[in-house]
Amino acid sequence: MSQITVRGGKPLNGRIELKGAKNLVTKAMVAALLGETPSVLKDVPFISDVDIVSRLLQLHGVAITHSEDGVMSLDPSDVASARMVDIDAHAGSSRIPILFCGPLLHRLGEAFIPGLGGCHIGDRPIDYHFEVLRKFGAVIEELPNGTRLSAPKGLKGAKISLPYPSVGATEQVLLTATRAEGLTELSGAAIEPEIMDLISILQKMGAIISVDTDRVIRIEGVKELHGYTHRALFDRNEAASWACAALATQGDIFVGGARQQEMTAFLNVFRKVGGAFDIQDDGIRFFHPGGELNPVVLETDVHPGFMTDWQQPLVVALTQANGLSIIHETVYENRFGFTDALVQMGAQIQIYRECLGGNPCRFGQRNFYHSAVINGPAKLTGADIRVPDLRGGFSHMVAALAAEGVSNVTNVQLISRGYEHFLDKLAALGADFEYSE
Ligand code: EPU
Repeated sequence: MSQITVRGGKPLNGRIELKGAKNLVTKAMVAALLGETPSVLKDVPFISDVDIVSRLLQLHGVAITHSEDGVMSLDPSDVASARMVDIDAHAGSSRIPILFCGPLLHRLGEAFIPGLGGCHIGDRPIDYHFEVLRKFGAVIEELPNGTRLSAPKGLKGAKISLPYPSVGATEQVLLTATRAEGLTELSGAAIEPEIMDLISILQKMGAIISVDTDRVIRIEGVKELHGYTHRALFDRNEAASWACAALATQGDIFVGGARQQEMTAFLNVFRKVGGAFDIQDDGIRFFHPGGELNPVVLETDVHPGFMTDWQQPLVVALTQANGLSIIHETVYENRFGFTDALVQMGAQIQIYRECLGGNPCRFGQRNFYHSAVINGPAKLTGADIRVPDLRGGFSHMVAALAAEGVSNVTNVQLISRGYEHFLDKLAALGADFEYSE
């Protein structure tokens, strides 16, 4: 198991460069399956989620190359069914395989999806996905080692309403509807920038998709799609993570490739907390301008709200703010598990079942510890900690870098699921650490 020994208490200073968003790139790779001709995706990061999706696509006959500078070509000319046992080898590794359903049904008339993985931040059911696929006419058979799908009568456009604007279920609809027969109307859709970028890609491929007001997306099915060439949207979750790392360590980080528009909600909170930023053409500089940090009250939400993936690194910075902060997590029911390690390091954080500091959410009255109160400033000291999930793990690293003394952080390979060249970036920012396998 990989481990990092960190000597904390030093500001992170320097420049890092972002590539494309993990939460877009992996879906754009799946979209390539829908085309009859090759696609080219630029700014593809070297992260393990991309590796997993590459391997699954290759098992289905897609030829893939990924150059050093992040250009990926995907040739789906020879798409073919893969052996169940080979697919099954990827069980538990990612959540993206659920998005293979529509494209494989269109290309092959059948699909087998392994058991899903991903971060343990709640139950993460896939009921919306199955409900959506059934509406298109898919027949779903749950097997002990995965799910088999077929579409004996083909896939037909449908009127769909999501009970919650789920990112994955919206992508499921997009990837299935573009080649389904007839019209699809999706209401209650997620409208995250990564989804808008996926829509741009599908439009380049020949799809007809309109995004209307009030979370309604309409798709006119077409018979055939072709390949695309596209530069992926930057990773705004990674940008926010490094911004919080700058704040928590009293540092100064220029995040190359970050853009203002997709981060407005984050930038407002960053400024309220007392962080400073300077928006330039080629990225955003995030820094601690000196003085005290301020507490905030906020709730995470779907876009255009404050993203759930931004709260974990922000919590670390808030341990250094002067007063009580409240965060109400409304997207996942169990996303404060990472705070245990921060408390072990000296942070004062209490988690509650109640919906604190905001509107009642669907997790209220349901025994989920989904609100956190952070009392700062607290002196953090090094500790032995284990990375629990991707964003929580990044936060642990930030806490270790901000803390006085030595921390041993294990299970750090999880961080490379979503942060490209993580250790190189830490080194470039002047972090004092050693890595061992
Ligand atoms: N949900 C259901 N049933 C479903 C699908 C979702 O109840 O069938 C619930 C979930 O349990 C959750 C909520 O709906 O409470 C929102 O889930 P959503 O489907 O929007 O999330 P996702 O598509 O599984 C993506 C990102 C997450 C990000 C969320 C929210 C990817 C691969 N993952 O997950 O990113 O937090 O959207 O923006 O795109 C991460 O990058 O670390 C990460 C977890």
